[in-house]
Amino acid sequence: MATSAQHATADTPRPFQWCPGEDVTLTVLETLIPRLAALRYEVPAQDLRISLQRIPTAPRSGFVMATVL
Ligand code: HEM
Repeated sequence: MATSAQHATADTPRPFQWCPGEDVTLTVLETLIPRLAALRYEVPAQDLRISLQRIPTAPRSGFVMATVL
């Protein structure tokens, strides 16, 4: 998997602050997102309005899924 991070060596230290969790985070996301996108489920009635008064924001009901296959 190619990432944008330049790997540091003793001779070529990274020129910027870097997160050592980047590779594992990207691998987990690449594995998880297609599986989540392929789920079949129902969305029961709920309050999906998003408050602009909080950070980070989210739908008021969260996101309720039912009959997940
Ligand atoms: C979406 C997930 C993540 C984001 C957005 C993220 C973001 C960042 C950022 C921006 C920094 C640099 C902070 C700075 O010094 O200015 C950092 C550092 C760091 N991250 Fe992450 N990270 C994530 C996941 C992880 C994971 C999963 C791990 C470990 C398993 C991890 C371990 C670390 C460590 C140890 C540092 C400090 C590195 C150092 O200062 O030498 N991170 N992260």
